[in-house]
Amino acid sequence: MNGIVLYSSRYGATRQYADWIGTDLRLPVIDPEMINDQLLAECDFLLIGTSVYLGDLLLKGWLKRNKHRLEHKKLFFFIVCAPSPDVSTHGQIIMDNIPGDLLRPSTDIVFLPGRWIFRQLSRTDGRVLKKRALTETDPVKKEILSQDSDAVKPENIAGLLETVRSFARSYTNLAMLDQDFCDFLEYKIGEAFGNSTREPVRHFWCDGVMLPTFEADYSRKTVNDKRQIVMTAYIGPTGQDIYQLTLKFGKKALSRYARGLDISDCVPSLESDNWWDVDIDRRKLLIQLD
Ligand SMILES: Cc1cc2nc3c(=O)[nH]c(=O)nc-3n(C[C@H](O)[C@H](O)[C@H](O)COP(=O)(O)O)c2cc1C
Repeated sequence: MNGIVLYSSRYGATRQYADWIGTDLRLPVIDPEMINDQLLAECDFLLIGTSVYLGDLLLKGWLKRNKHRLEHKKLFFFIVCAPSPDVSTHGQIIMDNIPGDLLRPSTDIVFLPGRWIFRQLSRTDGRVLKKRALTETDPVKKEILSQDSDAVKPENIAGLLETVRSFARSYTNLAMLDQDFCDFLEYKIGEAFGNSTREPVRHFWCDGVMLPTFEADYSRKTVNDKRQIVMTAYIGPTGQDIYQLTLKFGKKALSRYARGLDISDCVPSLESDNWWDVDIDRRKLLIQLD
């Protein structure tokens, strides 16, 4: 599976973490401005590193401009902050900087301690820190703000590396699509036909649903790329006609499937019948999951 590391850094702390991550996971480390649709199409996940200045991520604008390109990708953020991070500010930093569409349950975010070396800072940045030190009442924080401080260490990324590796392992495994799900779908299709007012479909039965022949055709990766699975259904007046069943994945189903969770509750309720369609001439049945 393919992943890339993107980062933005002013004085090198985030770049250092990005390089360690890229080396350890053997992933290319890329300037965010260099990404294009072709590169993104080939990648399954992105690690996005950015430092924070006065509450703003360096990549705040970039994330806003590119959110549509990232919406369906697995994202790991590493946010590099003060050498002695103030956990109470993290929630606000996330809410203020990462577009809501990218804050999905599958998005992972870690904060990593950074550094400042006064002689390397621009005059303005140096002044900002000194001003903060002057107004800081906590003596420990005051001390940290007043002098060089470097907390950038390889061990800080151990947890993140493990999370990415575990994702990569599970991603290639099969998700929860098994005989139980096929039986459930068979029942729901039969129920939907029975409740429908459409002729002649309301007299149709469903006598079975079969998974694709090859497991690769419904692996998590395939579903993430294609957003659908093509299966076989036995339906018709006697439930014996072979139909191509296309199961289309909506946002909820995609998210659950990616996490290896059961997608039975993504089959819409009986109240509406706009989630399925039958083309009798072409022997095709389409089901749109939530
Ligand atoms: C002027 C200035 C403002 C900063 N503002 C914040 C802040 O609001 N919150 C925070 O956690 N860290 C803040 N930091 C700490 C930086 O995020 C930290 O130094 C980081 O390591 C910089 O990474 P970079 O070299 O990759 O840009 C600030 C640092 C400077 C110099």
